[in-house]
Amino acid sequence: MGLKPATNPDVEAVAIELSIDGKSVTAKGGVSLYDVISSTGKIIPAMCYHYTFDPFGSCGMCLVVQEGKKAPVRSCTAKATAGMIIRTEGEDLFQARKKAVEKHLSVHPLDCPVCDADGHCELQDTAFRHGVTNLANAKQKFIPEDTRSPVLDFNMNRCIACAECINVCKDVLMIDALQFMKKGGFNQVVPKGDLALSCEFCGDCLAVCPVGAITNKFSKYLYKPWQMKKTTTTCNYCGDGCQMYLETKDAEVVRVTSPLSWKNKWGDRAETAKGHGGLCVRGRFGFEYIDSAARLKQPLLRKGNQLVETPWLETMHQVVDRFSEIQRKHGPDAIAGLITARCTNEELYLFQKLMRAGFRTNHLDSSARYGHLNFVHASHHALGIGRSPNDWEDLTKAKAVILIGSNITETNPLTAVRI
Ligand code: SF4
Ligand code: SF4
Ligand code: SF4
Ligand code: FES
Repeated sequence: MGLKPATNPDVEAVAIELSIDGKSVTAKGGVSLYDVISSTGKIIPAMCYHYTFDPFGSCGMCLVVQEGKKAPVRSCTAKATAGMIIRTEGEDLFQARKKAVEKHLSVHPLDCPVCDADGHCELQDTAFRHGVTNLANAKQKFIPEDTRSPVLDFNMNRCIACAECINVCKDVLMIDALQFMKKGGFNQVVPKGDLALSCEFCGDCLAVCPVGAITNKFSKYLYKPWQMKKTTTTCNYCGDGCQMYLETKDAEVVRVTSPLSWKNKWGDRAETAKGHGGLCVRGRFGFEYIDSAARLKQPLLRKGNQLVETPWLETMHQVVDRFSEIQRKHGPDAIAGLITARCTNEELYLFQKLMRAGFRTNHLDSSARYGHLNFVHASHHALGIGRSPNDWEDLTKAKAVILIGSNITETNPLTAVRI
């Protein structure tokens, strides 16, 4: 789009002054006008915009009036230049945006009650806000759903051709697994070459899709968004420790989402160097083990040669008695604790507290340490600290990264995205 890439440290943007709704605003010249407007706290509807990638300019919602131009301009693809005089509000703009929503809805199935995005849909919200009640010349697309992917279904009847899925996959993840293809008279999103989707299956395209065109195979048709409880937690599959939301109904995990969402579309592109808020396939789709019937639900106590299901309280009493006995006979140092690396720093902290304060032993370790002992020694030797001194921002901006003996995409998928 020729806009200044905010994450490129080599690009020095010049400060400019422009007027937005009568107020003087200082901004970086050449950046998206929409970014400048939203940085002032004004939110204009923008269905194809997401701060993590370059503006696409297809939805026609972000219209503003620029003095000297006959027709409203799309602020997302317009460059901010010195001296611009911009108006973002007014009945004329409201009507122009309403027309744009009507255009999208005129080829959109009115199937909200059975759509997965119902209650979490930008088109629905925007139509409501603009009072769209009557559609002349509406037509249907009748496109068969593409269900070939193991995790995502593509329903192009609902697609508004915003390209957010394509852009996040290409510009943020650098995977580029999706494309537009004209089929049956409509621009449709298809996996590259119109083959079955073959990609990292991270689901970030699903996260940014503002409508129900891309759906999650695991949670589809189960519940409406407002029926689920959202709990913020940390993914424990790898050391990247991505923030995630477990969406649950009663005690069951229905789906996993993350800060990357069409709902969080406003932000500073430079911040994406620190992470884009997405997940990898394990984080987003690898949750079924949590409610797996094969998991232990009751403690098993060894009685003779048998492991016997035992109530929690009884087991806890036995554990406390056995540890107390060992402590009494052999002292606290006869007890050692090992903990998996697959838990959060907070859980690791609580574990060491339990061992030190509860059991009064300093014999404790974690595979987070001994699993990486060789690296810790080498790092200490070379850098004076036993861990990597680089964060994601450093990795994003590094001109060269040397990887030795590592498949980073497999071990730390989101770090790999930064590289
Ligand atoms: S699942 Fe991830 S890698 Fe696959 S198309 Fe979507 S964004 Fe791209
Ligand atoms: S599938 Fe969703 S994100 Fe992709 S172009 Fe269509 S509406 Fe936009
Ligand atoms: S990169 Fe994947 S596995 Fe690692 S923490 Fe993030 S979502 Fe979990
Ligand atoms: S947000 Fe500008 S055209 Fe869609």
